[in-house]
Amino acid sequence: MAQNHPVCALDPKHVQRLLLLSQEAKKSAYCPYSHFPVGAALLTRDGKIFSGCNVENAAYPLGICAERTAIQKAISEGYKDFRAIAIASDLQDDFISPCGACRQVMREFGTNWAVYMTKPDGTYVVMTVQELLPASFGPEDLQKTQ
Ligand code: THU
Repeated sequence: MAQNHPVCALDPKHVQRLLLLSQEAKKSAYCPYSHFPVGAALLTRDGKIFSGCNVENAAYPLGICAERTAIQKAISEGYKDFRAIAIASDLQDDFISPCGACRQVMREFGTNWAVYMTKPDGTYVVMTVQELLPASFGPEDLQKTQ
């Protein structure tokens, strides 16, 4: 995995802060149905961080993941150039991995940024959006028809 990937070469201090903020965001998770709290922290190119948690709903399909909450917060505040996102869950033995819908939403804002998939002990694997969603469909494709 891309620990040394140039795209993923974030300052270790930045990584630690992002991981910590994703764990902090997890505490706000609203997940009475799944009991599976998730937190995310999204770093913009100009150094701003937006956090997010999963927000479920009694009408189950309306629930939204932590990653998309963070992305939608950022977009709605005028930020759409992203450098990295960290994701935290309570899974002890697995690195939390973003669902397909979140990968597609990440991809909308570029393929060349980093996704830190963490465990509660602070260990992580990092991959680019491109690596997580290869051969993707994106906004550029809509320009390719005559
Ligand atoms: N979930 C996330 O928020 N992010 C992920 O990466 C995986 C899954 C949420 C969705 C749902 O609220 C709960 O976790 C169980 O799937």
